Amino acid sequence: MEYAIEATDLAKSYGEGHTRVEALKGISMAVRPGELFAIMGASGSGKTTLLMILGLVTEPTEGRVLLEGENIYNGKRFDLQRLRREKVGFIFQFANLIPFLTAKENVLLSLELIGIFGRQADSRAMELLEYLEVADRAGNLPEQLSGGERQRVAIARALANNPAIILADEPTAALDTERGLSVMRLLRKVSKDQGTAILVVTHDTRMISEVDGVIRLMDGRMVEHGDSKRQPQSQNGR
Ligand SMILES: Nc1ncnc2c1ncn2[C@@H]1O[C@H](COP(=O)(O)OP(=O)(O)OP(=O)(O)O)[C@@H](O)[C@H]1O
Ligand SMILES: [Mg+2]
Repeated sequence: MEYAIEATDLAKSYGEGHTRVEALKGISMAVRPGELFAIMGASGSGKTTLLMILGLVTEPTEGRVLLEGENIYNGKRFDLQRLRREKVGFIFQFANLIPFLTAKENVLLSLELIGIFGRQADSRAMELLEYLEVADRAGNLPEQLSGGERQRVAIARALANNPAIILADEPTAALDTERGLSVMRLLRKVSKDQGTAILVVTHDTRMISEVDGVIRLMDGRMVEHGDSKRQPQSQNGR
């Protein structure tokens, strides 16, 4: 299995008739284990739609997705939810932690979802928070954390199931440059340490220094698929 996630000729349209929107018009992309890619493009270019299809949330209108070599949208799958729980981690712009649970409890909740409870869950949650350098905030509620700390907890939560891919939709948009960069560096560390394929939607070109390549969308089409290994002279500035 060369790629953690691979998509071929993805198309997605919303609505019918004159309200029909073609959000994706034939996207093919692939990311290896341990690679960190940025998805860039103007508002409305299809970034979130692509992420939701790769994350097994939205079915494409056409095309194929292989997750760890397994064909996902073949019409026969009835266990997409289970597959998503086991293999995909999500991170959102505003961290989306549960406000009345502490940092540690937010991570514990994700562990419960995959059937890990009790002392084992406890030590795994603390291990993840330590890895993301927020263990000393384990007992804080989200409102008692800084934006950067919240995103670290969100990354810890996304790692709970030891996913094959992590999909992050503008995780640095609400942070200043320094905190944004530190979140990107952590994602880079995660991808290298854990061999996770990570796709991060970002509008911020300063984050490009941390990634292995850029996938650029324009009006539902892919106009760039930079890859440090396949195209040494790719246009991602590295
Ligand atoms: N559920 C939906 N129903 C109808 N149209 C949708 C839906 N979701 C997205 N779209 C449309 O599909 C296109 C792509 O949207 P998408 O959210 O993927 O863009 P994006 O690149 O993430 O934009 P942004 O940077 O603003 O988040 C847009 O024209 C949008 O209006
Ligand atoms: Mg979006």
